[in-house]
Amino acid sequence: MAELRRRVAVLISGRGSNLGALIAAARHPDYPAELALVLSNKADAAGLERAQAAGIPTAVVESRPFGKDRTGFEAAMQARLEKAGIELIALAGFMRVLTEGFVSAWAGRMLNIHPSLLPAFPGLDTHARALAAGVRLHGCTVHFVTPGVDEGPVIAQAAVPVLPEDDEAALAARVLAQEHRLYPAALAWAASGAARLVAGRAVLDVPMAEGAFANPLPASLAVPTETA
Ligand code: GRF
Repeated sequence: MAELRRRVAVLISGRGSNLGALIAAARHPDYPAELALVLSNKADAAGLERAQAAGIPTAVVESRPFGKDRTGFEAAMQARLEKAGIELIALAGFMRVLTEGFVSAWAGRMLNIHPSLLPAFPGLDTHARALAAGVRLHGCTVHFVTPGVDEGPVIAQAAVPVLPEDDEAALAARVLAQEHRLYPAALAWAASGAARLVAGRAVLDVPMAEGAFANPLPASLAVPTETA
């Protein structure tokens, strides 16, 4: 059993497949985080059922009735988070932009996953934009949340090849499979203190990969190996 399991809230708006990956990881007794709350801003988010099936407490704070009153919405969320004794937030497909006040209150304690290799392709429709741009590598990023959307310090990234026959769905599926591997790892690092926000940068006490990734793969570049 991990000595201290940080109490994490996962914030969602939709299907919750990343939530599913976090739930699976947190089942391990050595995982340093406990999913203590799943909070959705939409009552019909499919991820809520996933949480309930796993026995995780859920909360719905509908954003729509608040209209443009973002601070009112966030105050309602904050009350639920405090009631549940939450220490860390993981945004996982949470489709609301958060105010500077809320983000500052959770500085260094709120993570997001984004489906691109930031700073490339912040915002929406990342896979279509990657295809349109003709990049050969694409991927996903877990970062600390700062007030600028998709701008926070990067904790971890996973890269995937973009293949000539890819359409948006094929590329999205390839990236999503890596999201499901990366987010549980990154959340564990943040929960254990191995990933920290220090002076505006993400500092990691985690082994880093060496070697090169390239696509297409020139004969002169070996496929990345564990020894690099
Ligand atoms: C993921 O692609 C994530 O990177 C982005 O929103 C999507 C959420 O998917 N922020 P899911 O709800 O986790 O399945």
